[in-house]
Amino acid sequence: MFDFDRVIQRRGTHASKWDNMAKLSGITAPDAIPMWVADMDFAAPPGVTAALTAEVQRATHGYYAYTGSWAAALVDWMARRHNLKIDPAWVSPTPGIVSGLGLIMQAVSAPGDEVVVFPPAYHAFRRIIVNNERRILDAQLVERQGRYFMDLDALRTSLTPRTKVVFLCSPHNPGGTCWSADELRALAQLCAERDLILVSDEIHCDLVFAGAKHVPTMTAAPEIMDRLITCVAATKTFNLAGAHVGACIVSNPDLKKRLDARIMASGLGSYNAFGMIATEAAWRTGETWLDALLEYLTASRDLFDRRIEAAAPGARSMRIDGTYMAWVDFSGTGLAPDAVTARVAQRARIYASPGPQFGPGGEAWLRFNFATPRPILEEALGRLDEAFMDLRAGK
Ligand SMILES: Cc1ncc(COP(=O)(O)O)c(C=O)c1O
Repeated sequence: MFDFDRVIQRRGTHASKWDNMAKLSGITAPDAIPMWVADMDFAAPPGVTAALTAEVQRATHGYYAYTGSWAAALVDWMARRHNLKIDPAWVSPTPGIVSGLGLIMQAVSAPGDEVVVFPPAYHAFRRIIVNNERRILDAQLVERQGRYFMDLDALRTSLTPRTKVVFLCSPHNPGGTCWSADELRALAQLCAERDLILVSDEIHCDLVFAGAKHVPTMTAAPEIMDRLITCVAATKTFNLAGAHVGACIVSNPDLKKRLDARIMASGLGSYNAFGMIATEAAWRTGETWLDALLEYLTASRDLFDRRIEAAAPGARSMRIDGTYMAWVDFSGTGLAPDAVTARVAQRARIYASPGPQFGPGGEAWLRFNFATPRPILEEALGRLDEAFMDLRAGK
């Protein structure tokens, strides 16, 4: 019904994944394959294309009227997919989640304050904290039996009076961890004890594989709703990252007022019409597409994990519950991290996200985005196989 195998030429289309690759990675080979930034090489759901086409054909592209239908579509989606009840009055659109995180920090903290992140963690957290003149407080994740765990005892001892905010990524990126209700509750309790605002970035919540379950922090810890901000979006789920629209969900009216004041102060109370139209259509029409996508991604995940571990003896791909990024530890290969990166970049002509970008704990890792049509994925896996061939000699 949906052809995820179809290769769409994205080179030369202002696709950051393809057209920024050479600049960022130094890989100039014309056949280089991008496996870095988190967007997919698949066509969006047909209902999105239809909605955008209708807008384009009307050919009048004036300011967008926020009638509430967008928040209603989000509310319906979260109820259907996550059994989560949200009041549309809690929803503030922002031009993406990362900009939302910046606005939240401005609303609830001051320059010099500390923001907790759980590294290895999504690199833009680090950047937006530093760019807002706040400081990163790393709460190192601990890996046990191929899964990440939060060490809240260690975090408790490192909190200071300047710590004001916690950025949680749920499901976690990288590592694809779906946090359990107990884990979320324990973190929530610590936030309540120490008067911290908990920001739960759940942008990957829809991209969870069979056998795993995303638990919204709102569901796990309703007792801290007054200090909780949940960030969600249709952009990751439906491959609309360029639409740059996200939602901050805040039930505490005072907190919401503070966030909305920052949004208004930055002139962001008027929304990008294309982004709003695309994401509303996605929530309203994209469900069967998403179910089919998840089946496709499950097979791609299994293929990638099996092949990378076979290609580079000693490499270990973390068993992800969600997201479409494989997180691979090369420390067991006997190669230095730079040598691994060089093989992947130069021999395989693949740009994977360098592990150190994700902060402490990522040094020996690479993150590979496998959300690409199977012909491209097969080509990439074949090249990785060759790039590490000598390691297999004599084994
Ligand atoms: C955890 C997380 N949050 C936010 C984003 C990006 O959100 P946006 O493009 O809406 O700023 C990403 C993209 O990869 C992500 O992984």
